[in-house]
Parts: sequence; C-alpha cells; structure tokens
Amino acid sequence: MTTPNPPALDSLRELETDALAQLTAAADEAGVEEWRVSFLGRKGRLTGVLRSLKDLEDADRRTVGAAANQTKLRLEEALEAREGSMRAAQAAERAGSRIDVTLPARPLQAGSLHPVTIARRRAERAFRDMGFDVVEGPEVEWDHYNFDRLRIPKDHPARDMWDTIWVDADDAERDRRMLLRTHTSPMQIRYMETHEPPIRVVVPGTCYRYEAVDATHEWMMTQIEGLVIDEGISFAHLKGTLESFVRRFFGQELETRFRCDYFPFVEPGAELAVRWQGRWLELLGCGMVHPEIIEAAGWDPDRYTGFAFGMGVERFAMSLWGIDDIRHFYQNDLRFLSQFRGAQGAR
Ligand code: PHE
Repeated sequence: MTTPNPPALDSLRELETDALAQLTAAADEAGVEEWRVSFLGRKGRLTGVLRSLKDLEDADRRTVGAAANQTKLRLEEALEAREGSMRAAQAAERAGSRIDVTLPARPLQAGSLHPVTIARRRAERAFRDMGFDVVEGPEVEWDHYNFDRLRIPKDHPARDMWDTIWVDADDAERDRRMLLRTHTSPMQIRYMETHEPPIRVVVPGTCYRYEAVDATHEWMMTQIEGLVIDEGISFAHLKGTLESFVRRFFGQELETRFRCDYFPFVEPGAELAVRWQGRWLELLGCGMVHPEIIEAAGWDPDRYTGFAFGMGVERFAMSLWGIDDIRHFYQNDLRFLSQFRGAQGAR
C-alpha cells in the first residue's frame, strides 16, 4: 500500500478554498467568466493539477485523481449556482419591484375614444378628403376677435345671440376684454390675418356659452368652423361643399334644406337642415363671408369672395347615434362612454 501524496492533496484543498472565495467575490458576469477561465479553463489551475497526474505513481494517481475530480465537480456546481443567482438578480432588477410574475393574470380593460372625438375626427376626415386644411385656435379669446371684428359691436343686440363667459373682471374702461370663445368664428379673422387667398380651412374646437343646461344645450360644446376664400366663390360652392360633406359624414344621400338665417358676419346667411329619420335636423349656420370682412382683411371684395360655416359636433353625434340628451357627453359616465368602443360612426 502506498501512502497518498500529501503535498498534491493539500494543494488541491487549498485550490478549492481559494476558488470558492474568489467566486463569491466576483462582482459581475465578466468576473465570473474570468474565474471560470482561471480555474476550469484549458490552462486553468485545476486543469493543471489533472494534467500533472501522469507524473505520479499509479496509486497516488488514483487517489489524487479522484480527489481532483471531486474538486472539479464542486467548482462546477458552485459556478452554476452563482450564475443562476446572478440571472435571478438581473431579472428582478429589470422588473423593478412593480411586477410579481407569480400573480394570476387579469384582462386589462382598454380605454376608448370619446364619442365627440370620434364624430369630430370623422368630420375632419371628410373635409380633408375635400382638400381642406385643419387648424386650431385659442379657447381664451379677445372680444375683439370673438365679436368686434365679426361685425358684432359692443352694446349691439346681436351679442345676445352668444351668451358669454367672461374671463376678466367687468371693466368698462378697457376696450379689450377676454372671454371663453362662444364660437370658432374668431379663427376666421385670425386666419385671414396670417394667410392669403386661396383659403380652404376648417377649425375644430371647444366653445363655451353662459347658458342654462338642458337636453339640447350644454355650456361647453365642440364646433367645426369652415372658411373658403378665393376668386369667383359663390353660394353654389357653399351648397355643393356642404352637401358633399353631409354625404361623406352620414355615409348616405340625405335630403338637405337651406333656409335664410342671420349672422352679422355673413351675407346672405343660412341654416342647413337635413332630413334624418323622418325629421328635419338643423345642423349648422353658414353664409357668404360679409364683404366688409373681406375688405378689412385687405382684399378687394369685388375680386375675392368666400363662404363660411359653423357646426356643432355634439349635434352631429346625437343624430348619428340616436343620443337623446346632450348632457350625456360630459358626465363621464362609463356606462354611456363605453358603448362607443370601436365606433366609426355611420360609415
Ligand atoms: N358662429 C356661428 C354660431 O356659433 C355659426 C356660423 C359660422 C354661422 C359661420 C355662419 C358662418 O352660431
């Protein structure tokens, strides 16, 4: 019986202790890989021990060889454990503390567009298809643009057509006051100030009126203003454009009716109604842009003419989906709002 080779076994034990300590100390993935190469790699320290076995006598070779293989197994196990805990730590870090992947899955209730948004986009689409640009304007406006420049002077009874929510205090001294726009028409003036004919634009936006709320009136509503100015524009263009819009919006041919109406900034002015489910539905106000407004914009009214219109989007939405009360729109009742999930309107 030969004595085992104590120096070889001792150095193996030392190697293992050393290796395990260094593995624990390895800071990251690169450190662990470095460790693997230096102990288990082809030129690593343990591999060196296994290689030198051939220089030992038979009996020693068996003893030391078995011990070296045990060491190798333990180091490989330790490596695997270390890599596993590193991966787990990384996954936890990526998920943060927010996600517990062991919780049962629950379906997510996705939101949906507001019916007025759906109707508004549908109208914008129809006008874009007809070659209109879509722009927006300020909701807090000067009375200058909301009224004066639209030929609605101070103390004129026509102002009563638009009950107004004033933003600043009543100060008779000042000639400019701020308000929440009562309609989108002030954008007609603003747009004319910064553009030259030909003009073909629609302006969607929220408007406000100091009004008692009932089934057909809200103090907040959405309008779409339209303005077209060019040489040779006539009432026939106004009729043709709006009839085409109604066809595109409702997705079918509807009987239309133009009747005289009064708005200070158009001449002549009209109201458009469509025959919808057996009733005449008043949809919008419109008319030829008043020559004084064309002139104030700096253009010759004998050369340039135009038309304008303004429609209430809630009205369109109500007729499209058979909604009987305008107050539903802004009460934020999910039982109402969720009925429009995926709705496209009548198209
Ligand atoms: N601004 C008008 C209103 O709110 C509608 C309108 C717009 C009428 C453009 C004629 C031309 O009642």
